[in-house]
Amino acid sequence: MTKEIVLTGDRPTGKLHIGHYVGSLKNRVLMQNEGKYQLFIMIADQQALTDHAKEPEKIQESLTEVALDYLAVGLDPSQSTIFVQSQIPELSELTMYYLNLVSVARLERNPTVKTEIKQKAFGESVPAGFFIYPVSQAADITAFKASKVPVGFDQKPMIEQTREIVRSFNHAYHTEVLVEPVGIYPENEESGRLPGIDGNAKMSKSMNNGIYLSDTEEVVQKKIMSMYTDPNHIRVEDPGQIEGNMVFHYLDVFGTDKATIQEMKEHYQHGGLGDVKTKRYLNEVLQAELAPIRERRLEYAKDMGEVRRMLQVGSEKAQAVAAQTLSEVKSAMGINYFK
Ligand code: TRP
Repeated sequence: MTKEIVLTGDRPTGKLHIGHYVGSLKNRVLMQNEGKYQLFIMIADQQALTDHAKEPEKIQESLTEVALDYLAVGLDPSQSTIFVQSQIPELSELTMYYLNLVSVARLERNPTVKTEIKQKAFGESVPAGFFIYPVSQAADITAFKASKVPVGFDQKPMIEQTREIVRSFNHAYHTEVLVEPVGIYPENEESGRLPGIDGNAKMSKSMNNGIYLSDTEEVVQKKIMSMYTDPNHIRVEDPGQIEGNMVFHYLDVFGTDKATIQEMKEHYQHGGLGDVKTKRYLNEVLQAELAPIRERRLEYAKDMGEVRRMLQVGSEKAQAVAAQTLSEVKSAMGINYFK
């Protein structure tokens, strides 16, 4: 039986946090373990360079951290191919051909890129490479003929644009070489967009409001104890708010004992349940989820040479697949002159 192909990845601009975990890592591990899929997991260092061109050392550093995070959550290199984007030159070549099928106006409309341009305060100086990264992402996905792409909601516009490029390519060159992918998103909105511990809508390194997969037990506990709850819930006996309360938000995402959580919510709203108690409960829940991840991470981190070899082997495997697709693409375009 041939397996369905899955491609996905992350930019290595820091360690991965629990938002990444519920947002897409968990889905990927589930897909891997189901046995129906062949996974390609890409560390998108080239994409990270599109807005960090002058700090390659930062990307280099987080490359191995992200690799460790992948291994820690249970992505298994004997089943899934973990590789590094910059080591596959075929991806850049595909990007060049796809760029001719995309208008500047269409690129300007990509909502995620639009938001990022605002957030990053590029002003008039948006790097051209950054502006076109959705096209390079289409190359990443199509090079492997992936039919499924497990990602967070923020990546929806990239999948949409990839689908358009595939249709446009196949139509222009009268071929069916490229496969139109679908996105696989988190099962609910809450886990798709995990806010920071301070209540800010986004968990991010610059805001220092994230819980990382590599955080120690003590650090996780400290972060939970400092979480944003209900600023008007001053005395234990005061009625408290669930809405916007990060402890309950996280419990909704990570907790499995829904009955207990429901009871706690009612008690909290009624008054008489203190923040320390709710935080302690969340700490129990989260530590139970993170402990095996942390252990595996420490185990793999003992031999970084082995982690790098795993990336090298994965990249070689990935390159062979991408080279085959590129050759088919060039044939379809009629530019494989000397073959
Ligand atoms: N854009 C993704 C991120 O910001 C990373 C990425 C690059 C990706 N190429 C991809 C994800 C292809 C899925 C498929 O993390």
